[in-house]
Amino acid sequence: MSTPTPSSPRIVLQARNIHKSYDDGAIKVLRGVDFEAIEGNTVALCGPSGCGKSTLLHLLGGLDQPDSGDIAVNGVEINRRSNLLHLLRHEIGFVFQLHNLIPDLTLAENCLIPTVAAGIDRQVARDRLHQLTQRTGLSHRLNHRIQKLSGGERQRTALCRALMNKPKILLADEPTGSLDEKTSAAVFELLLELAATEGITLVMATHDRGLAQRCDRLVEMHDGRIRGIGAF
Ligand SMILES: Nc1ncnc2c1ncn2[C@@H]1O[C@H](COP(=O)(O)OP(=O)(O)O)[C@@H](O)[C@H]1O
Ligand SMILES: [Mg+2]
Repeated sequence: MSTPTPSSPRIVLQARNIHKSYDDGAIKVLRGVDFEAIEGNTVALCGPSGCGKSTLLHLLGGLDQPDSGDIAVNGVEINRRSNLLHLLRHEIGFVFQLHNLIPDLTLAENCLIPTVAAGIDRQVARDRLHQLTQRTGLSHRLNHRIQKLSGGERQRTALCRALMNKPKILLADEPTGSLDEKTSAAVFELLLELAATEGITLVMATHDRGLAQRCDRLVEMHDGRIRGIGAF
């Protein structure tokens, strides 16, 4: 094994020959997916609706298990991890298409929930919340309930929530898919900017070619496998 040097990129997410089906094998979705993401890179996962993008993201983040194949996050295989919760709370952040925020709670409360679960010091969590809401232009909305926020503000809140515990990997599932074109572009810019300044590896499912082409790498899902530009 060679010792990693600054010039040798580190693979932070790796999937090998992943198979996944639903309904006891009746719906075969992933048929041997190989995927890698290099530290600090932004990767767009493209493909038509129903091709398995969400399925793959859930597997990569440990939210679901493959039928067969191996997935490693930061060099450690998910199924060999004794503490999967550590992965979910500290190493990986998720942004979903429909924000998944709690509508009756405020922006601040929604963002602080993952920090409580992770046992982060209250003041540290508050400072992080202020930093992120400032950078996403939401400082004036901290005590507003989610149901009072616009679609763009909700997705920006979801972005803040996903980054509260400083994960180095962010999995985003059509994070701007529910927004109009202009709002979508603004939220996407923010996503790229945050990923760059925090050194985050971003894997984003999207069917928006324009957004996908702004990423470092574009991979295409087809017939349950990955092919296409820049796939390793
Ligand atoms: N929990 C589930 N049970 C049964 N079928 C599912 C489930 N989740 C997804 N599917 C099916 O798997 C396929 C891939 O879904 P998905 O990963 O959501 O695709 P995409 O995100 O690319 O639109 C679809 O045919 C979908 O209907
Ligand atoms: Mg999906």
